[in-house]
Amino acid sequence: MVEAIVTRNLTKKFKDLVAVDHVNIDVKKGEIFGLLGPNGAGKTTLIRMLCTLLAPTEGTAKVAGYDIIKEDGKVREHIGLVSEKMIMYDRLTAVENLKLFGKLYNIPKDTLEKRTHKLLKLVHMEKWAKSQIGTYSTGMKQRINIIRALLSVPDVLFMDEPTLGLDPQSTTEIREFIKRINIENETSIILTTHMMVEADMLCDRVGIIDRGKIVALDTPRSLKRIIGGEDVASVDIEIPNLTNEMLEALRNQPTIVSVVRENETHLLIRAKGEDAFDDIIDTIRARNGKIAFVKSLEPSLEDVFLHITGREMRAEVSSKVKSFQGGGRHGPPALSRRVR
Ligand SMILES: Nc1ncnc2c1ncn2[C@@H]1O[C@H](COP(=O)(O)OP(=O)(O)O)[C@@H](O)[C@H]1O
Ligand SMILES: [Mg+2]
Repeated sequence: MVEAIVTRNLTKKFKDLVAVDHVNIDVKKGEIFGLLGPNGAGKTTLIRMLCTLLAPTEGTAKVAGYDIIKEDGKVREHIGLVSEKMIMYDRLTAVENLKLFGKLYNIPKDTLEKRTHKLLKLVHMEKWAKSQIGTYSTGMKQRINIIRALLSVPDVLFMDEPTLGLDPQSTTEIREFIKRINIENETSIILTTHMMVEADMLCDRVGIIDRGKIVALDTPRSLKRIIGGEDVASVDIEIPNLTNEMLEALRNQPTIVSVVRENETHLLIRAKGEDAFDDIIDTIRARNGKIAFVKSLEPSLEDVFLHITGREMRAEVSSKVKSFQGGGRHGPPALSRRVR
């Protein structure tokens, strides 16, 4: 298998509505590919076509090397789907649910038992393996829903909004599991999300989808460069003992593009280059400056969406994004603020 997914002009119309509009994507083997777009953009429709659950109106696609129309059975043998809706039986335990789905896939009993054990361990659910699913929290259910899709050891795993509706802790955990599945099993993953931060954290490459069309496709880093320029970092920093000397030193740093003094103690700094963030911190510390608060304001994928489509993504998106305090270049980037 060369490419996990190849689509050519893949299109789905519902009467007059073009839900997926001539989509061309190539997902590499072993890649985590994100489809990022607002509600109604066409993400689920695209996924359903690739999973052979919905026939395209136009165009072609290959998944795991097989044609989604002519070789739909083969496609199904090589994929797993974590759909938006969980299909599991509340009255059954996790193990019983998994057994049931294992039978549907014709997995031999011994193999199924081994896999179930291994997968429950992967998502830290061994302890609750024999409890009824109905007693689980949504986050716990989603863990079982995910490993259910892994029972057949798919080459390509589709995940449609895998963290939608989960609490923050479960969201973080599920994201870690997704990374681990990708690394340990070399599973190619295509996931949809309307959360910028999720695409940014998880995906090797991201296709931004809007009104059925892929409007941008690249690594999160490159997408952010579209609006941020080369390695530009913006830093929001609070220095309780800020002096004019510190300010002057910062302004004389070659990596620093601009320093705006917001008030007595608060600066907004824009800098260029790989070491820009470290330069800022070092310059302040060398003059005994105390750093009470620092936040790196990288351009977010949300900015990219706005830049490309001229429209904001839904408000619910940004309210879910947490800001980041006290780290540096090596911490998670803050995606909550716009750099302008
Ligand atoms: N079975 C269907 N019949 C008619 N319209 C549909 C159907 N499924 C989806 N749509 C429409 O297609 C568009 C894309 O929907 P969907 O793929 O679910 O978007 P997303 O998953 O990005 O939120 C929406 O306008 C939606 O209302
Ligand atoms: Mg959807």
